[in-house]
Amino acid sequence: MILLEEKLEEINAEENSKKIKIGVVGAGYVGLVTAVGLSYKGFKAYVFEKNKEKTNLLKKGISPFYEPDLQKFLQSSISSGNLVFTEEISQLIKECNHIYICVGTPIREDYTYDMFFLDSAAKEISEYLPQNEFKIIIIKSTVPPGTAIWFKKIIKRYRRGKKTNIEVASIPEFLREGNAIYDFFNPNRIIIGVDNKSIINDLIQIYRDFSAPILVVSTTEAELIKLASNAFLSTKISFINSISDICEKLNCDIENVRRGIGMDNRIGLDFLKPGIGFAGSCLPKDLNAIISIFKENKVNHILFESVKEINNQRIDLLYNKIKKALWNIKGKTISVWGISFKAGTDDIRESPTLKLIPILLKENAKILLYDPKAVNNFKKQFPELSIHPSIKLTEDIYESVVNSNLIVITNDWEDYQKVNLMKIYELMETPIIVDGRNILNPLQVSEYGFEYYRIGVNYEST
Ligand SMILES: NC(=O)c1ccc[n+]([C@@H]2O[C@H](COP(=O)([O-])OP(=O)(O)OC[C@H]3O[C@@H](n4cnc5c(N)ncnc54)[C@H](O)[C@@H]3O)[C@@H](O)[C@H]2O)c1
Repeated sequence: MILLEEKLEEINAEENSKKIKIGVVGAGYVGLVTAVGLSYKGFKAYVFEKNKEKTNLLKKGISPFYEPDLQKFLQSSISSGNLVFTEEISQLIKECNHIYICVGTPIREDYTYDMFFLDSAAKEISEYLPQNEFKIIIIKSTVPPGTAIWFKKIIKRYRRGKKTNIEVASIPEFLREGNAIYDFFNPNRIIIGVDNKSIINDLIQIYRDFSAPILVVSTTEAELIKLASNAFLSTKISFINSISDICEKLNCDIENVRRGIGMDNRIGLDFLKPGIGFAGSCLPKDLNAIISIFKENKVNHILFESVKEINNQRIDLLYNKIKKALWNIKGKTISVWGISFKAGTDDIRESPTLKLIPILLKENAKILLYDPKAVNNFKKQFPELSIHPSIKLTEDIYESVVNSNLIVITNDWEDYQKVNLMKIYELMETPIIVDGRNILNPLQVSEYGFEYYRIGVNYEST
């Protein structure tokens, strides 16, 4: 293990670094942000995205998904000539010596990672690798430990005996959706996984401008660091959710309790927020994957099973709060604020709202669905639900509460805090709020006359 902080000056790479051409395979959240960020920093980046619809949008400078500031940086990098979207992976391989793999690694039904996209990328790359030119392939996707070693083997296998001059590194991605651009430019740490020390300098040249510590480890260690970090964050969330449950019984307010816990520097307040559980495309998937990896290696996985179980119960808890508040759900109109899994993104993968909707429909409720950014994504991904007679999609927060009996908040957009509460109160039939993210100010909401229920607080004390 090498921790490189001050040592960066020793690397005489200034002039060379900006000549490095970066190839990025896969232009999702990770790939696009990596390409946009590195090209903005002065590297020339070539991107190959196999989805033609996405590529066409990207060529026009349009981001296929919402992420704060992404569009601005995308257009700036395209205008500078540093960012090129190519339709031929062969061009990317020909031009670039550093090739980032940023394809998806979804979870299979057996809770192991689906390696199909990585395998396909390996096959495509292997076809065009030159025999006499050295290339570094950098895996950024979240993968099971051992993947980089496998990837190198697989490429050689596809090459069928042709000379293969590559090294495979692992530089896991830690960005948060909703803060991806900020996180790209301000990482807490950069983890570089290599199995051949000769490529360390090549990789550090790319990251020497970042003011974050760089830790160099083996590829398998880097892969495990990513998975373990996500498992820790999930654990922190399930931990505070458990504490919030006991708060409800002991007549304590979780907001006071969590502050008291988080003030300990060893613990901290980040990710110590009660709510309706972790969601999105990463934490649930990576937790399932780590459980599978522990099982496969016959290591006790009880900790992570509990984290998962606690998380799975959060929607029932939310439903029970709604039911208790309304007494009868049948025939009631419920405004659901939140479609994306969290604020700052239109990503609806594994969103808690997707689990809540069928429960409410089964109870014969009418649903008014609102989100500041994710309505279109919902329409695209769930066309049948979008025209369901009991669901109305709204792009205006006030329209979303007309004659409503209850608002349930499922994600944490700041927009909800800025809303005109008086107007909301007037528009609703029965002004009740169930706040699944503890985002509103309880005193303020109660002053307007709302019945207000949040997580981790005994109802009577609110
Ligand atoms: N989204 C996040 O917040 C985040 C954060 C850290 C790590 N990760 C990890 O990074 C990886 C990518 O995540 P994402 O959210 O960007 O996924 P994504 O699904 O948004 O993007 C993946 C992209 O790769 C493209 N692709 C697949 N195979 C390809 C191929 N052979 N050639 C070219 N393009 C190809 C897909 O069309 C898609 O656009 C995953 O392993 C994920 O777990 C994601």
